[in-house]
Amino acid sequence: MIVYISYILLIICVIVQCNHDVTPKTHVAIVGAGIGGISTAYWLKYYLNDSVAITIYESNQIGGRLKTINIDGDEYEAGGSIIHEKNLYMKRFADELGLEKLNVPKALPYVMTNDGSQTLFSTLHRYIPNLFLVLWRYGLDALRLNFWLGRKLSNFIRIYDYQDNGRIFNNVEEFLQMLDEDFSKATRTSFRKYLFEHGFSKRFIDEIGQLATLVNYDQSVDTINAFPGLVSLMAAGSTLWHVKGGNHLVPKQLLERLLKQSNVQYVNGHVKSVEEVHRIDINDQGGNVRLSYKPVNSELVHSVDYDHIVLAFPLHRDNINDFVLQSTDLFNQYDYRMQSTHSNFLSGKLNCQKYNLTNDECQRLNAIFYTKSSLPYRAVAEQLTVNTNKKSTNQSIYKIFSPEKLSSEDYKQIFDNDKFQLIQDIPWLAYPKYEYPQKLPPIQINKNIFYVNAMEWSASCMEIEAISARNIAMMLTKQLGFELRRSDKHIEF
Ligand SMILES: Cc1cc2nc3c(=O)[nH]c(=O)nc-3n(C[C@H](O)[C@H](O)[C@H](O)COP(=O)(O)OP(=O)(O)OC[C@H]3O[C@@H](n4cnc5c(N)ncnc54)[C@H](O)[C@@H]3O)c2cc1C
Ligand SMILES: *[C@@H]1O[C@H](CO)[C@@H](O)[C@H](O)[C@H]1NC(C)=O
Ligand SMILES: *[C@@H]1O[C@H](CO)[C@@H](O)[C@H](O)[C@H]1NC(C)=O
Ligand SMILES: *[C@@H]1O[C@H](CO)[C@@H](O)[C@H](O)[C@H]1NC(C)=O
Repeated sequence: MIVYISYILLIICVIVQCNHDVTPKTHVAIVGAGIGGISTAYWLKYYLNDSVAITIYESNQIGGRLKTINIDGDEYEAGGSIIHEKNLYMKRFADELGLEKLNVPKALPYVMTNDGSQTLFSTLHRYIPNLFLVLWRYGLDALRLNFWLGRKLSNFIRIYDYQDNGRIFNNVEEFLQMLDEDFSKATRTSFRKYLFEHGFSKRFIDEIGQLATLVNYDQSVDTINAFPGLVSLMAAGSTLWHVKGGNHLVPKQLLERLLKQSNVQYVNGHVKSVEEVHRIDINDQGGNVRLSYKPVNSELVHSVDYDHIVLAFPLHRDNINDFVLQSTDLFNQYDYRMQSTHSNFLSGKLNCQKYNLTNDECQRLNAIFYTKSSLPYRAVAEQLTVNTNKKSTNQSIYKIFSPEKLSSEDYKQIFDNDKFQLIQDIPWLAYPKYEYPQKLPPIQINKNIFYVNAMEWSASCMEIEAISARNIAMMLTKQLGFELRRSDKHIEF
């Protein structure tokens, strides 16, 4: 009798596949293989493991805005380049993958100028310590800054404890509120006004504040809201690192590792639209959302149904024709714009005469920062290779950030006449164009469509994308009725 029952059970099991470990319950598509999309896959596997099947779609290159360029055999960071020491998820990924973290050298010797006609500040003096120079120019503001930013940072890093303990935020506003009441207020005011209200002087705002936002987000203290402003300042005064070999190795190698697990697929293709499927027959077991894509090297459009779709690229008015989000009126793509920024790579010799530098100072000059936002360029900095953190042995390689394409007249303002060569100009839709009060897109566009890059409209950086990814993985896990696995390792602060 017992044998007989077991036999029946076995047959039933074969038919319905009792072994849940091999039958994913949920099919998720992720659109975008940048750090946002790949870390979403990482966290989904972390929480749901074999209960989820994941397909990742990418129309271009794995890594997205993380990318290096090769110049004479050396690699240089062309997109997202620096990572804060307290960015614990980027650190976790690098450590798990066995990638080496290289510290970015403290500020290169530089001059800060308004428009090139007047030197505001210089760290080129050999015998005067920088700290003294900073205090001389910015007085108490300089001292207060570190203390104040330290407090803001310690509020920001509460996010790791919250997420380890399974705390979800349902929208960007809730994320900011949860960390610091002041972060949410910051999104509603200009960075200039915010710094002024926090007691900083006009000179400090015009120079340090402005330099930070122009270099980080190509936007000025007068147009950007104060949250990305704060994030820019934090980058200015801390220990920073990057991944040896290039930051793009994080998404690339995470993906390689994920593809070795069961039920993870990668598709090289352009996703054209995502729409909800309204099923008339309730017994119809298909997915809730339909994704249509065109594989590379093919003109045929394929459609696949999924239970859930995660969008991991920014939606804005300039890509409204490349991608259509159908039957969702929760979200107006036209409300959001991206800042165009060019990374121009050149070899050459900086125009030192213009800054009245001595020969000795000229030799040490590595970077020039411009604080006037109406200029066509933001900053020029000599580049270190991502493999060795050293300068090229052959020639000096510089990167110039500019909002538009530069002309050779523009380059001549920066370099010694004719002693320069343009190597490559890489145009980016780099980060959101911030405003105040800042409109913030929804993280959950509808029941089955999630949007990682909604968080980019608080501040764009690799770490925020990884935080957003974990939040969405937790939302989905909870929505599916699974227990949220608590963190097994305590993250150190
Ligand atoms: C010049 C520059 C400097 C920066 N500096 C820093 C820095 O120093 N530190 C820092 O932390 N951050 C920096 N950032 C920001 C950082 O790079 C981004 O916040 C982060 O890389 C965004 O990752 P993501 O995965 O969300 O988006 P992306 O990297 O943009 O990835 C989205 C992916 O989706 C793909 N995709 C888009 N549409 C479709 C579609 N319809 N179908 C299929 N695939 C699609 C794209 O090809 C892309 O690969 C910088 C960015 C730039 C451009
Ligand atoms: C998923 O489960 C398998 C065993 O079933 C295990 O080996 C693997 O480490 C798990 N993956 C994650 C990300 O937890
Ligand atoms: C130096 O430059 C030359 C060409 O100008 C190139 O062939 C060579 O590979 C470069 N060497 C290094 C180490 O970059
Ligand atoms: C260089 O010196 C001249 C004459 O003293 C001065 O007018 C000019 O502003 C200086 N240039 C810079 C960039 O400081």
